[in-house]
Amino acid sequence: MALPDITPLAQHAARLAGQSLAGLVADDAAGARAGMLVGRLGPLYLDLTRQLLDAPAWQALLDYADAAGVDAARDAMLAGAPVNRSENRAALHAALRAGDGGHVRIGAAVRDEISATLARLAALATTLREAPRDLGLPRITDVVSIGIGGSDLGPRLACQSLARAGSGGPRVHFLANVDGCEAARLCSALDPASTVVILISKSFGTRETLLNGRVMRDWLAAALGREQADARLFAVSANVAAAQAFGVAPERVLPMWDFVGGRYSLWSAVGLPIAIAIGADGFAQLLAGARAMDEHFAEAALADSLPVRLALVGFWNRSLLGHASRCVVPYDDRLAALPGYLQQLEMESNGKRVGVDGQPVPLPTVPVVWGSVGSNAQHAYFQALHQGSDIVPVDLIGVIQPDHDLADNHRALLANLLGQGAALMLGSGDGDGAGDAVADTALAAQKHFPGNRPSTTILLDRLTPQALGLLLALYEHATFVQSVLWGVNAFDQWGVELGKTLAGRIEPALAQAGSDDELDPVTRRLLAEIRSRRADANVAAEPSSGA
Ligand code: F6P
Repeated sequence: MALPDITPLAQHAARLAGQSLAGLVADDAAGARAGMLVGRLGPLYLDLTRQLLDAPAWQALLDYADAAGVDAARDAMLAGAPVNRSENRAALHAALRAGDGGHVRIGAAVRDEISATLARLAALATTLREAPRDLGLPRITDVVSIGIGGSDLGPRLACQSLARAGSGGPRVHFLANVDGCEAARLCSALDPASTVVILISKSFGTRETLLNGRVMRDWLAAALGREQADARLFAVSANVAAAQAFGVAPERVLPMWDFVGGRYSLWSAVGLPIAIAIGADGFAQLLAGARAMDEHFAEAALADSLPVRLALVGFWNRSLLGHASRCVVPYDDRLAALPGYLQQLEMESNGKRVGVDGQPVPLPTVPVVWGSVGSNAQHAYFQALHQGSDIVPVDLIGVIQPDHDLADNHRALLANLLGQGAALMLGSGDGDGAGDAVADTALAAQKHFPGNRPSTTILLDRLTPQALGLLLALYEHATFVQSVLWGVNAFDQWGVELGKTLAGRIEPALAQAGSDDELDPVTRRLLAEIRSRRADANVAAEPSSGA
């Protein structure tokens, strides 16, 4: 389907180009603009008023979303239609957390399969936490979750964010990178007798995961023997046969399915490490939070839908105002993994320049998503956010009630969040210390803050499983809505394949077992350099002293 005409939106963008953001906010005495751009769902509050938008531009965005068919696309996704058209698959992550909810219209068989798997997940997590003897295991102190991309980022984020919500569960470690540093560290730090290893891979063909899986399996076997090692090995995969071939018994493999994309999968059996870390009840609350956002997304009118609003703002900033990146700054150390999670969610989903019709998308698509925790970030790159030559919209995410008693720290943290959003918008106006009159005009220019820089504020009442579920489902649906606005497929990722293929060709050459004739000249030169400088190759080649 051709994209709707962008001209009205482009006209609004041109009209608003010289507009003061602070002026737009200040002129809203009656609160109509805030009514349009501020919303709450349960413990999640979303404020988009610091975006360069007024009522006519907002209406034009809503009209564009309507014309792009957001309603129909949402309904198709929630009905299990094959919205991932390049792979002819559904995208049923919402079904994973739907329970019996009528907002996801799928058949009873799929619903039953999902609930049976979630029940197995809950039972296994509870057994590992409370009764490992039932599996013939001693008390489990540590779990190593091996996976990468969507088989790592979601569970890692949820465990880091919510670990306090559980009590007495094993420590959960995440092993993703093929770099052996972390695998070697875990092997020397953990006791194999009280460690369980979970391999998470939808395909069970991901090189990094299989390599790390072998390292940990062999480590268990070397210490405990094969039988005891096998008893400590679990897997989550859509490819049960491959997991079995690797050595995980079928009864210790939890299934996932083609209709769940990797980056949308933390709600499936991929969430096993989460349930182990915070308990099965906590995991159920995480799903319940996401379900509340799903129901809202399914039912709310476009203008009232928080995911649609968030999507429209991102689309506006990227495709109309031309902002090439977006910075995500959670003011909570527990959410440190959120920027990385959103990087995959948004950039792997919408990092496409060709639409589902095979034609080039006539607009710039996904921005670069990056960021890190505040207030640390303020002492690293906020200089550029305030005074750099590019405007970078920022998502500021805060938690109102901390889970500790250090009230002064928390007050300072929230003050920083609020202060940054205000400073980005206002710049150095009169009466602001940074704007004090400076005799030297060159110095004054360097001290000047231009302001007019947009930000979004998201506040959670507390960082509970439910609130995290709401937050992640908000971003998931916003990502999907943007894919509709751009006309791309949010659920495939062909762009990751070529690099994997080339690495597969280079690895034998690096081991000197294969020819490098097929490789490009730069790769050949780099290979030669690496070979000549390897510890096993260069001892004799080092120049002797005085040479
Ligand atoms: O390389 C990208 C990717 O396919 C992601 O989409 C996915 O989340 C990740 O690799 C891991 O894949 P798997 O779960 O199949 O190991």
